[in-house]
Amino acid sequence: MTSKATTLEATRRGLEGLLLAPGAESVPIHLMASSDDQAAEGLSEAERSWVKAQGWTAKQGSVLLLPDGRGGIGRVLLGTGGAGWADQAPLLTGVLATTLPEGDYGFASPLPDAELAALCFLAGSYAFTRYKAAGADRKRRLVLPEGANKDQVLALAEALYFGRDLINTPANDMGPAELESAARELANAFGGSIKVTEGSSLLSDNFPMIHAVGRASDRAPRLIDLRWGSEHAAKVTIVGKGICFDTGGLDVKPSSAMALMKKDMGGAASALAFALLVMRAKLPVRLRVLIPAAENSISGNAFRPGDVLPSRNGMTVEIGNTDAEGRLVLADAITLADEEAPDYLLTIATLTGAARVALGPDLPPLYADDDDFAAGLLDSGRAVGDPLWRMPFWAPYDKLLKSAVADVSHIAEGSFAGSIIAALFLKRFVRHAKRFAHIDIFGWVPSEQPGRPKGGEPQGARALFHFFRKELEGS
Ligand code: BES
Ligand code: MN
Ligand code: ZN
Repeated sequence: MTSKATTLEATRRGLEGLLLAPGAESVPIHLMASSDDQAAEGLSEAERSWVKAQGWTAKQGSVLLLPDGRGGIGRVLLGTGGAGWADQAPLLTGVLATTLPEGDYGFASPLPDAELAALCFLAGSYAFTRYKAAGADRKRRLVLPEGANKDQVLALAEALYFGRDLINTPANDMGPAELESAARELANAFGGSIKVTEGSSLLSDNFPMIHAVGRASDRAPRLIDLRWGSEHAAKVTIVGKGICFDTGGLDVKPSSAMALMKKDMGGAASALAFALLVMRAKLPVRLRVLIPAAENSISGNAFRPGDVLPSRNGMTVEIGNTDAEGRLVLADAITLADEEAPDYLLTIATLTGAARVALGPDLPPLYADDDDFAAGLLDSGRAVGDPLWRMPFWAPYDKLLKSAVADVSHIAEGSFAGSIIAALFLKRFVRHAKRFAHIDIFGWVPSEQPGRPKGGEPQGARALFHFFRKELEGS
C-alpha cells in the first residue's frame, strides 16, 4: 500500500513520466473529421488503401493504427466525427490513453486546444491502483504538443488525479481524519495554514449542525479550514461537502443508493483540487477552503427526523430527513465563511440525487444570482471541458422550507425540485458574501468515457480555476 505522506509528490512524478519533450521521436497521431482528410494529413497511397480496407470512417472516438511496413506502427488515426467535435466531445483525445498499445506518441494535426488535448491524454491514463498488487507500468507516453504549457498541463492532471484518488479511496481509509490529512498535505506543500475544529470542540466553537450530523460515528466529525495567500487579496472561499460516508442516517438508504456513498466527499475533493490549481498557479487571491468532514452514521446517539437543531447563524432547523445531511454541515461552514464577507463564496457538494435526475451525472447544476458571475462560470466550464449548467435559485420555492416548529426546515415536503430546494436552503445562510455560487455535483463517472475512467471525478474544479485565472489575471 502506498504511504499517504507522499501522495502528491508521487502523483507528480508519475505524470512527468508520461510527457515527453517536444521533438522526441514518436508515432504521429492524426485527427480526422472524415476519411477524406487523409491526403491532407499526408497519408500515402498504400496507407489510404489500408484505411479503406479496414472500413474506417473517422467515427467519433474510433482509433485506427497504420502499419509502418517494418512490423511497427506508422501512424495513429483518431476519428473526430466531424466539425465542431471539440465542443461536443472536448475530452475526446482521452480515448488514446486507453486504446493505444505501449509506445510514444505525438499529435501531428493542429489541435483546437493543445493543453486540453494533452490533459485528456493524462486524464485517460489514470488508474486507481492503491489496493492492487504492483503491476507493470503502463507506458503510453505523449510528446507535449506545441502550444501547451507543460507546467500547466501537469498541474491540471495532478489536481485531477489528487481529487480522483480522494474520492476512489474507500470510506474505511478515507474518514474525516484522512480527509484532514489530505488537506494538511496540500496546505504544507504550498505554504498554506490549516485549522481544524474537531469533535466536542464543534459544540463549544458553535458548529452544532456539523457535530449533530457526525456524532454517531466513532470517527470524529471536524471542520477543516485551510487558508492560503495574502489577506489583502480578493477573498475566494470554497466550501466542499466532506461526508466521508453517507448511510442516510436513521432514514437509512437502501443498499443500491448506499453503494457509492464513499463518494459523498466529492465536493471536498473538488474543492481541494481547485485549491491545488490556485496555489500552484499562485493566483493573486486569498484562498480559503472549508470542509465540514463527517460520517453520516447510525447509532443510538444519531440525530433523528423531527429533531430541531440549533445552527451557527442562530436559526433553528427542523430535521425532516436525516439523509439530507449535506446541507446541514454546509450551512454551518457557510455561516463561518460568510462572517468575513468574502468577495466570492462557492459551495460544491454531492448534494442531491435530484440534480442527477435533472441533468445526469456529467452536467452539474450551477446556482448563482449574479448573471455575469454565472455566465463567466459557464463559459469557463465549456472552455475547459468541465461543463456546468445554470439552474435557478427560484425564490417562490423558498416558502417550501417553512417549518411549523422551527425557523426553517431543511427539506420540502414533496420531492419536486430537490436540487433547487437544497440550493435555496444553503442560500439562507449567505448574508454578507459579495457573490455566491453553488454547484451540485455527482462526483463520479458511472461508465468509462474518453479521458474519464469509471470512478471518482472531481467536477467543477477546472471550471472554477479557469474562471478565476481569467478574472484576476486576465490570462
Ligand atoms: N449524498 C446524497 C445525495 C446524492 C445521492 C448525491 C446520490 C449523488 C448521488 C445526499 O446526502 C442525499 O441523500 N440527499 C437526499 C436528500 C433528500 C432526503 C431530501 C436525496 O437527494 O435523495
Ligand atoms: Mn444523504
Ligand atoms: Zn450525502
